[in-house]
Amino acid sequence: MRNYAVIGDPVEHSRSPGMQNAAFEFHHLGSPYVKYHVRPAELGDFVEFAKRQLAGFNCTVPHKAAIIPFLDEVDPDALAAQSVNTVTVDENGRLSGTSTDGYGLETALRENFGKDVEGAEFCFIGCGGAAHATAFHLARRGAKTIRIANRTIEKAEELAEKLSKCFPSLELDTASPRDNGTLSDWFARTNFLIQATSLGLKFADPPPFDLELLTPDLKLAVFDTIYLDTPLLKRAKELGLPAAGGSAMLLYQGAKSFEIWTGLPAPIEEMRAGMEGKPSC
Ligand SMILES: NC(=O)c1ccc[n+]([C@@H]2O[C@H](COP(=O)([O-])OP(=O)(O)OC[C@H]3O[C@@H](n4cnc5c(N)ncnc54)[C@H](OP(=O)(O)O)[C@@H]3O)[C@@H](O)[C@H]2O)c1
Repeated sequence: MRNYAVIGDPVEHSRSPGMQNAAFEFHHLGSPYVKYHVRPAELGDFVEFAKRQLAGFNCTVPHKAAIIPFLDEVDPDALAAQSVNTVTVDENGRLSGTSTDGYGLETALRENFGKDVEGAEFCFIGCGGAAHATAFHLARRGAKTIRIANRTIEKAEELAEKLSKCFPSLELDTASPRDNGTLSDWFARTNFLIQATSLGLKFADPPPFDLELLTPDLKLAVFDTIYLDTPLLKRAKELGLPAAGGSAMLLYQGAKSFEIWTGLPAPIEEMRAGMEGKPSC
């Protein structure tokens, strides 16, 4: 059996090997999932290696867009979003790519908040690879509105333009995360607030927006894609707002990758335990 892998730069912190090997072991397929530290300049060499030696791999930062020119086939939404996190390698070395981040987010929202995305109003803070992939998925799944606030507002405008071409009836808006008036207006109408910047990964990071804008009367659920207890999550919980971090998103994007590669059902609880570094029972 050929191996599977996750590639990134850095990649040491990745929880994917523990999570994926728990699934392979559950199905008596050994522990074939490894991590490779691949720097941007090494991506081409890695792809040649993968064609000969791997059956599939996950891409994390900074390879989600850079991998696309190497692929023989790309899912249209992943191509439009320029974000691929799951690559399958067939016996002939042909590579096909897709993104499971949006499925991961949708399933995490359902698990954490018991709510579906169809007809829902979303507000994204941040507009990197994760926001691109998940916004396309949510639009495909029937979201009513997607509002995007990003430090580099041009990126938010570009994503909104791409989304509007693919989904003409989707309501879209963009703003700076420093525009308190607009954010406060958005929050009053939002069902899901998705924190999709990298702010909160480091202790000294500033908040992604003015946290005073969150108030207990809001009807929104707060989801931070980061899987730490960030200041945003702490504030939301203090106010009694429904709030969750990104660990379930990580779990379900990995579960979908496993199912794409193997055609087998992902053993969710075993993968969750593997992701958290716990022995599965
Ligand atoms: N839970 C999961 O399964 C999962 C999956 C994927 C990603 N994630 C998380 O999602 C987050 C974003 O990942 P990504 O892949 O989208 O990263 P990315 O492509 O590098 O995008 C980073 C985002 O953060 C913003 N940002 C970075 N530094 C900032 C600062 N100092 N001030 C304001 N904004 C700043 C960027 O704004 P600019 O555009 O202005 O630079 C951009 O919107 C990360 O925290 C990652 O851990 C979680």
